[in-house]
Amino acid sequence: MVALEREKMVFLVVTLAIGIHFTATAALEPSVIIVGAGMSGISAGKRLSDAGIKNIVILEATNWIGGRIHKQNFAGLSVEIGANWVEGVHGEQMNPIWEMVNKLNLKTFFSNYDNLSSNTYQQAGGLYKESFAQQAFDVADSLAEFSRNISTSLTASREEDISILASQRLKNLVPSAPIEMAIDYYNYDYEFAEPPRVTSLQNTEPLPTFSNFGEDLYFVADPRGYESVVYYVAKQYLTSNSAGQITDSRVKLNKQLEREYPGANVLLVTVTDDESRRIEQQPDYETKAEIMEVLRNMFGKNVPEATDILIPKWWSNRFYKGTFSNWPIGVSRYEYDQIRVPVGRVYFTGEHTSEHYNGYVHGAYLAGIDSANMLIRCIKTNFCKFPIAAKGT
Ligand SMILES: Cc1cc2nc3c(=O)[nH]c(=O)nc-3n(C[C@H](O)[C@H](O)[C@H](O)COP(=O)(O)OP(=O)(O)OC[C@H]3O[C@@H](n4cnc5c(N)ncnc54)[C@H](O)[C@@H]3O)c2cc1C
Ligand SMILES: *[C@@H]1O[C@H](CO)[C@@H](O)[C@H](O)[C@H]1NC(C)=O
Ligand SMILES: *[C@@H]1O[C@H](CO)[C@@H](O)[C@H](O)[C@H]1NC(C)=O
Repeated sequence: MVALEREKMVFLVVTLAIGIHFTATAALEPSVIIVGAGMSGISAGKRLSDAGIKNIVILEATNWIGGRIHKQNFAGLSVEIGANWVEGVHGEQMNPIWEMVNKLNLKTFFSNYDNLSSNTYQQAGGLYKESFAQQAFDVADSLAEFSRNISTSLTASREEDISILASQRLKNLVPSAPIEMAIDYYNYDYEFAEPPRVTSLQNTEPLPTFSNFGEDLYFVADPRGYESVVYYVAKQYLTSNSAGQITDSRVKLNKQLEREYPGANVLLVTVTDDESRRIEQQPDYETKAEIMEVLRNMFGKNVPEATDILIPKWWSNRFYKGTFSNWPIGVSRYEYDQIRVPVGRVYFTGEHTSEHYNGYVHGAYLAGIDSANMLIRCIKTNFCKFPIAAKGT
């Protein structure tokens, strides 16, 4: 009898112990849902996984991993319709994306902008005279240096931010000749996807991407796609098959297949802002006709008709609503903190939440780690507050 009772007691204790054990396990192993399998979501998942939080599900709206890093077949070639360059290479710090690209041995081309003065075409055809073009590039360089100086002094004296265009006006050197506007477009509109009148001076001059990671750019042109860097991060914690596809049941989507990469005559054109909105609204054949007109004005009537055109439409895609975030004038660190501050149990990540590198692949990658760290700190130390510095500090 006594023995039986003892047995009963032990049994109860064991039951109780198991109960506690389950509760403790549940508390230590929370489940995390990641919305979006872009670079940032995949990066956050890796960081969580490294911290022992493996009970995750990644929900992706489209049928691909990589989000705005995405390749597509065009004219028998695998082309990138999203991110194309690794920006910020050969600087003091190593760009984490460049490290991945090298480990994967992706095919890249150094974008050499040293010889632009002998390679700039006039709209009506023919090259600009080198000395003339060189002068325009020199003026643009010195204007950019002036803007950096103004930006530094605004920050030092805690003055309010101005636009890039406003700083050009202070120097009384607003680009107006066609060559000046072309250079200005390349320096600003092309980089930030919005014109200098919109873009914040203080947050772009100097740009942390170039001052920390280096001034160089490499164009990724590999049949495996730029998306390889996303897979590189993903495969470190998600299961994949021998074909390199992510088969982990925690990722909910279908994946696309690889293709060959023969050489081809493909021209890449970038438009931004109002012009890109206009072009997304019209039929692709009209855009093709416009491009052919520009090319024939520039290179002569004998330019053969393009056989095809591919126009990615990121702006009208409801899952993206544009290509990447730009930091506009009037927006301070405070507003950016508001974008990423957690709302209850919902945490935010993405290139737009990156402290220094918004708009870039490395920004997405690093933001994923930062956001995951905030969540890990909350889970592990119960410190779930995200203090925001007051506006203007
Ligand atoms: C045309 C273009 C050119 C670019 N060029 C460069 C470049 O040369 N160099 C560079 O460094 N960067 C470049 N970028 C920027 C870079 O691609 C992005 O900064 C980066 O890929 C963003 O990653 P992300 O994870 O923050 O967002 P995303 O890649 O957008 O990932 C978010 C994911 O969430 C998914 N999603 C959205 N809504 C939902 C929903 N409701 N439910 C489930 N899933 C959802 C989306 O489908 C997507 O997969 C370019 C971008 C574009 C579009
Ligand atoms: C610069 O460009 C011109 C015109 O295309 C070319 O003749 C010259 O060889 C180039 N120089 C270098 C160093 O690439
Ligand atoms: C920028 O500041 C540096 C250092 O004060 C100065 O030497 C340089 O001339 C300035 N450049 C321009 C274009 O104003």
